[in-house]
Amino acid sequence: MSPVGIQGAQNLYPTEEIDWVVGDGLKLDFHHEFDIVHVSNFSPFTMVDSLETEQAKLISGQIMRYLKQNGLLVFVWNSRLDESDPQGTWANYSIKQIARYFEAVENANYLGTWATHSQLSTLFGSCSLSNFVTQLTAAGARFHSKTARIVAAVQKL
Ligand SMILES: C[S@@+](CC[C@H](N)C(=O)[O-])C[C@H]1O[C@@H](n2cnc3c(N)ncnc32)[C@H](O)[C@@H]1O
Repeated sequence: MSPVGIQGAQNLYPTEEIDWVVGDGLKLDFHHEFDIVHVSNFSPFTMVDSLETEQAKLISGQIMRYLKQNGLLVFVWNSRLDESDPQGTWANYSIKQIARYFEAVENANYLGTWATHSQLSTLFGSCSLSNFVTQLTAAGARFHSKTARIVAAVQKL
């Protein structure tokens, strides 16, 4: 994480109960320690030529190392869902691309890939991650340029 990101998070959650670490998220010293790892818009996923490259597969492997057995990896990605990369800086992965990527993660049980949007989350609450909201979000993304949010989850075996 960047020092600025950590500082912002510390300001948001001022508590002694969190150990804040500045470091390369792919090379931390933790192994098999966590029940949940949550990665939100983690830029290494946009620095690869495609999610199908070996380099891309390594990223999930490096993140999965931090999890205990049965631990959850929750992945979040802001995207227009159209596989475009208009500025050449952010990959607008489709739901299918993300699903294919996480289905192939080794030693893991694939739980699913969904799309949602902050307004739909407000409306549907805990049902926001569902096939219905995913289809609604995908249809909406075709008609307006607002960014949707892809969420994927796998459980370590
Ligand atoms: C697009 S921002 C997302 C910030 C926040 N997680 C969010 O979802 O709004 C990407 C963040 O990933 C951090 N980052 C990029 N490569 C990293 C790495 N190898 N280890 C840790 N953090 C990294 C950057 O410093 C930046 O803060």
